[in-house]
Amino acid sequence: MTTSASPPPPASQSGRYPPGAAAFPHQGLLGIAGLAPHEILFLLDEAEQWVELNRQPQKRDDRLAGLTIINAFFENSTRTLLSFEIAGKRLGADVVNMHAATSSVKKGETLIDTAMTLNAMRADAIVIRHASSGAVRLIAGKVDCPVLNAGDGQHEHPTQALLDALTIRHALRERGDSDSLVGLTVTICGDILHSRVARSNILSLTALGANVRVCAPPALMPEGIEAMRVTPFHDFNAALDGADVVMMLRLQQERMDGQFIPSPREFRHLYGLTLDRLARAKPGVLVMHPGPMNRGVEIDSNVADLVGTSLITRQVEMGVAIRMACLDVLTRRARKLPGWVGPEISGEAWARETGA
Ligand code: NCD
Repeated sequence: MTTSASPPPPASQSGRYPPGAAAFPHQGLLGIAGLAPHEILFLLDEAEQWVELNRQPQKRDDRLAGLTIINAFFENSTRTLLSFEIAGKRLGADVVNMHAATSSVKKGETLIDTAMTLNAMRADAIVIRHASSGAVRLIAGKVDCPVLNAGDGQHEHPTQALLDALTIRHALRERGDSDSLVGLTVTICGDILHSRVARSNILSLTALGANVRVCAPPALMPEGIEAMRVTPFHDFNAALDGADVVMMLRLQQERMDGQFIPSPREFRHLYGLTLDRLARAKPGVLVMHPGPMNRGVEIDSNVADLVGTSLITRQVEMGVAIRMACLDVLTRRARKLPGWVGPEISGEAWARETGA
């Protein structure tokens, strides 16, 4: 794949969303739920400039100089923590990482006390990952600065869904297709029940007009998932038939209370993405995985490493750009950027007027 395809017009000129703060009138990013499609597109378009910058030898823009960003991770993470840290640093912010293993959380401090402590340190943005669904919203209600959800329990992982959408549209553009996700068939397969990645992606992909299929064994499929405007499958071969994009998910053993699958071997047999199985999807199918991967379980190595088909490392690249966009956008009000302070038209009013 080449990397020279032209990016979309600058965010402010595209007419895809209202001007200034009305384009993203939210205090933080707690989830994809509650975001209008044009707000998702706005963040994707904002990220394009950072994709470009990150491909230069000099990857520095100092717009967040003097700001303090705290990454408060109450759950293990490698790529997400690193990605947020790099994103904040590339924008010139002072970035501090707080690991739960070495924090007072281990001494029994309540989440609210931790939140109030972080707030008293006058952070300008707090990025939180927590094993409990809803913990991030709880903290967001106790602090004055923007809060970004880096994954809360089985609930949401909004920056993952945004980086996935950005990855898909880059791949489409690079092969000369329209970069719109409208009408695209995306199959998400694996542990749907425990996956915040699946949830955020379902919300974002359906908002952007994709047809979403979810595939899992019955024990790992949430009841009533159809209400999220997706088509559920238990037969992976059928779910792959004609798919444009396949997203594989890890078995989230740490969230499983009891036996959900007979064995990893059995799971691979029915739900593992093998080269043979991939042939059922559309020619030119794109393969994704948020990581960490269990090679030989949900995805075979020869699929994960398939050049031109696997977008897995591209997802990591897009992750930094998306997180830069989110940190930039969410600190604009505090930085008093023109258009981001004072009276504004609401995003809802704009959507009504323009029919967006
Ligand atoms: C995901 C997560 O933490 O939810 N990983 C990630 O953010 N890169 C998915 C997973 O852990 O399986």
